Amino acid sequence: MYPLSYIEPVFRPPSEWKSLILQVTNGCSWNKCVFCDMYTSESKKFRPKKVKQIEQEIIKVAQSGLIVRKIFLADGDAMMLPFNRLKEILLLIKQYLPTVTRVSSYCLPRNLTNKTIEQLSELQHMGLKLMYVGCESGDNEVLSLIDKGETYNSSLAALTKIKQSGMKSSVMILNGLGGPELSRQHAINSAKLMNEAQPDFLSTLVVSFPLGEERFAKRFTESQYQPFRMLGQQELFNEMKTLLSELALEKTIFRSDHASNYLVLKGVLGKDKDKLLNIVQMAIEQSQSIPIRQEWQRGL
Ligand SMILES: C[S@@+](CC[C@H](N)C(=O)[O-])C[C@H]1O[C@@H](n2cnc3c(N)ncnc32)[C@H](O)[C@@H]1O
Ligand code: SF4
Repeated sequence: MYPLSYIEPVFRPPSEWKSLILQVTNGCSWNKCVFCDMYTSESKKFRPKKVKQIEQEIIKVAQSGLIVRKIFLADGDAMMLPFNRLKEILLLIKQYLPTVTRVSSYCLPRNLTNKTIEQLSELQHMGLKLMYVGCESGDNEVLSLIDKGETYNSSLAALTKIKQSGMKSSVMILNGLGGPELSRQHAINSAKLMNEAQPDFLSTLVVSFPLGEERFAKRFTESQYQPFRMLGQQELFNEMKTLLSELALEKTIFRSDHASNYLVLKGVLGKDKDKLLNIVQMAIEQSQSIPIRQEWQRGL
């Protein structure tokens, strides 16, 4: 039997499907991004978990005999915990689960402002190897519109700090986030941010609203922008074409295979840039000739 129980729902990056999810906080400390409904239910009110409880859970896992290699620290931004608390958690993992080789977490850029490169490097040496950063966009207008509470510069500062500490970064960019009006600048400035930061991994998702788009669309109508509408397939492919064309990455693993995407793209950038651009161009010009996910095959 699985040794842990969670305050549901629990979200993790798709690539962490094999990892043990250790819920060291509940919810997201920011919880204001207007596109994100992940932690808005009453049960997901933000709260860090007490260290004693975390220790009991780690002991439970150890006693279950499960061989754990990777751990993902949940929920939405476990990196908001202070340095000393993160250190305590990593020490407990080392003590009770010595087979663990990698710990990872979601991380908001602001989670790192009160942590030095030396502290992050210490955590890296203790096993905290990978930060998933939802930059969502590199465009300051889009970032302000979605209430991310971050900017191009704050995102770049965090990604640079992660690199300098020896950790790896995996960035998420959201296609369609600026609607048709901001689509081009969203793509260009997101590429610019990635080019400066050179993350280890980059994935793109398509913004989707399983609970309805009212909250998101309201932000557009309240400001000076044209009313929001979701980009159509062709518009999304064009946004992807602009993003890929502008990307000048040296060695970043690129994935656009999340269930929200119509078109699956995978490769290493820059090596595979031309190949990926060709696929996108085919999707724009002859969409019947390549596999495109049907609406019913998509999800969040
Ligand atoms: C569970 S969230 C946690 C991320 C972390 N709090 C951060 O902001 O860096 C993971 C990612 O899911 C994606 N996401 C959230 N809401 C989404 C939506 N409505 N449509 C598409 N992707 C979404 C965003 O890219 C977000 O960064
Ligand atoms: S995207 Fe991340 S920071 Fe924004 S509300 Fe969702 S979980 Fe919190």
